[in-house]
Amino acid sequence: MNANLEQIKQEIISGAEELNSSKEVYEFKKKFLDGKTGKIGLLMKEMKNIAPEERANYGKGVNELKEWALGYLGELDVKMKAKELQDRYESEKIDISLPAVASEQGNLHPITLIRNQLIDIFSGMGFEVFEGTEIETDYYNFTALNTPQDHPARDMQDTFYLSPEFLLRTQTSAGQIHVMENKKPPIKILSPGKVFRSDDDATHSPMFTQMEGLVVDKGITLCDLQGMLDVFVKKVYGEGTKTRLRPSYFPFTEPSVEVDCSCFECGGTGCKLCKGTGWIEILGAGVVNKKVLENCGIDSEEYSGLAFGIGIERTAMLKYGINNIKHLFESDLRVLKQLND
Ligand code: DAH
Repeated sequence: MNANLEQIKQEIISGAEELNSSKEVYEFKKKFLDGKTGKIGLLMKEMKNIAPEERANYGKGVNELKEWALGYLGELDVKMKAKELQDRYESEKIDISLPAVASEQGNLHPITLIRNQLIDIFSGMGFEVFEGTEIETDYYNFTALNTPQDHPARDMQDTFYLSPEFLLRTQTSAGQIHVMENKKPPIKILSPGKVFRSDDDATHSPMFTQMEGLVVDKGITLCDLQGMLDVFVKKVYGEGTKTRLRPSYFPFTEPSVEVDCSCFECGGTGCKLCKGTGWIEILGAGVVNKKVLENCGIDSEEYSGLAFGIGIERTAMLKYGINNIKHLFESDLRVLKQLND
């Protein structure tokens, strides 16, 4: 072979050793094989300077060198690409045997759980939800509920007044008036929400949650109330739980009752939770006072109603055995994690 061709071949062999990537192989290949500028490509242009009798031999040599270089560098390119792919696999390798980082799952707050459970139970009996507002007027919170300005029952609830007219509602009972003013009987609503009173100890908090229930229709009696509450306590505190009504007083109900349920801790034999009585007070209720119906333009001769007010925190405290209401507001995960069934 022509000495020049041999030199080029050696140049390719030794140069190839220095190559580290398929990109470098590509550039290197171009340096020799590019039709116009490559070293081997240019050899063909030399043909005219070769003696005519040498030309056939020379052309054959150049072609052989070209074939060889294509094969040699082509093989190198395949090897380089395979290596690059392998390197990429190595660098992207995921260790699937590594334990995953456990992500903590949150759960609903016990107040929300009880609220949802109560809505679920009562909506099963046909109740609709009406959410009132936390700021109310004195009229809706008291006067329309048969508790005028000088009524002694106002002392039962220590009120946060915002002005002589406006206040933070002390009871979700205020929602009853809005509903009765806007809807004709039959009425069956539940009104859950926050209420506020200047009261603070282990079982009372200045802000807490209530769920009001109101039914107005023809022929509603105290029996309907007891029937509904029986279903409610069985679902919340267990199948064997019973209810009893005790006479009480609320200005907006007549008669008014305090509702107890049989102690779900001891089954009624007497324990610490029920203070040895076998019964636990759970809510206030009654037959809607005729004056309240009349205040809302409902004919009290034609219609009658029942109402009840459930304390959600109290329900949660009883159900989960919590002795301090503050546990429900402090967002301490150690406590909340125990209260998620
Ligand atoms: N509003 C009363 C309270 O906050 C609870 C209550 C008692 C609501 C009797 C009622 C009811 O609807 O009939 O203490």
